[in-house]
Amino acid sequence: MKPSGICILGSTGSIGQNTLAVIALHPERFKVIALTAHNSVDTLYEQCCIFKPAFAVLMEPQAAKNLQSKLTQQGISTKVLCGLQDLCEVVSLPEVDKVVAAIVGAAGLLPTLNAIKAGKQILLANKEALIMAGDLFLATASRTGATLLPVDSEHNALFQCMPPGYQTGSRPQGVSRLILTASGGPFLKTAKSAFKEITPEMACQHPNWKMGKKITVDCATLMNKGLEVIEASKLFCFNHDEIDVVVHPQSVIHSLVEYHDGSQLAQLGTPDMRIPIANCLAWPERIASGATRLSLTQVAELTFLPPDVDKFKCLSLAYNALCLGKAAPTVLNASNEVAVQSFLQQQMCFSQIPSIIETVLQTFYDLAANSLEEILLADKLARERTFDLIQAGA
Ligand SMILES: NC(=O)c1ccc[n+]([C@@H]2O[C@H](COP(=O)([O-])OP(=O)(O)OC[C@H]3O[C@@H](n4cnc5c(N)ncnc54)[C@H](OP(=O)(O)O)[C@@H]3O)[C@@H](O)[C@H]2O)c1
Repeated sequence: MKPSGICILGSTGSIGQNTLAVIALHPERFKVIALTAHNSVDTLYEQCCIFKPAFAVLMEPQAAKNLQSKLTQQGISTKVLCGLQDLCEVVSLPEVDKVVAAIVGAAGLLPTLNAIKAGKQILLANKEALIMAGDLFLATASRTGATLLPVDSEHNALFQCMPPGYQTGSRPQGVSRLILTASGGPFLKTAKSAFKEITPEMACQHPNWKMGKKITVDCATLMNKGLEVIEASKLFCFNHDEIDVVVHPQSVIHSLVEYHDGSQLAQLGTPDMRIPIANCLAWPERIASGATRLSLTQVAELTFLPPDVDKFKCLSLAYNALCLGKAAPTVLNASNEVAVQSFLQQQMCFSQIPSIIETVLQTFYDLAANSLEEILLADKLARERTFDLIQAGA
């Protein structure tokens, strides 16, 4: 069997590194064609030394120059490219079969859309891009034959529980409800009154998962779960009132699908992203992931509770954005990205995140989002407004 050609957008991040860890277990199945990052020269250099891709892409010219000279000195023939246009080109190379979309945030939108246009199989971790442009992604995929496989653990769980032969972008037969589980994040038991004291360091400590900083903060505000509700709506064609969130602090059940007859099917496993990544890499086959096996007797207890939407307002903001439609999900996402970045840079406090996003959503929710240009405009306006509000100390 010819190995599948792989391009990883964001190979130096948490998802990117986990993907390479799975690929390393199956050298006969996968051939790495392209690896990309923003500016992490050292990590990308190490990855190029091991996987010897034909191409590496960085976003910053000086970083690309440094990487090329290090690789040349080492006698590695990887060609280093630079910038958004090159990023968009490597995803559509004929030798690339599967594109792992693992850039964080809106920066992943254009390369992922290009991979969909090129009809590739997309292993989608970059939820922000789907939230911004879900309808465009799915319409383009149905035209080009691209398939979208969900890497996000909850959506991968839902995907695994769908009827046989199910493909994303369609409404599954016989399914009445989707139930997303949430760990509740590090502040599940913290009083709301203490939220203004939360530091970036505290918010970057997830109880169960090891991930990039942005998604870890999103887990702490529960915006991550809100983004996932929108993601589930787009991928599986469900309305906001057909998607529930249940807090499940052990992160063992990764999500559930409820069928018309009342059956609920769940996917369980240790909280390790190599499991959904391996599932997507080999789909529809199954391969080893390297993850530790789940022992139910060791876990012993599984608990569930409803989310506290008064304490975690970001979750209800995301449900609202999904109901409002048009550019509201794009605006929510853009404002959240700016707010989280500012919080990480200690320019605003944790408790301000939802109120700033709410103000921006109220200003721009009605913008149109029918084309890529309209989506990018809504994203830009929401970012500018969020930035202004933060500068003004709102
Ligand atoms: N981590 C998880 O377990 C997990 C689970 C579910 C879903 N996801 C989703 O997967 C995506 C990636 O998350 P992550 O945790 O892996 O993030 P991460 O660790 O922060 O990694 C982000 C990757 O994107 C690259 N990148 C950042 N900004 C870029 C830009 N402007 N242009 C090009 N590349 C850029 C980074 O390169 P540098 O290293 O050079 O900065 C890095 O390779 C997110 O959308 C997240 O919501 C993650």
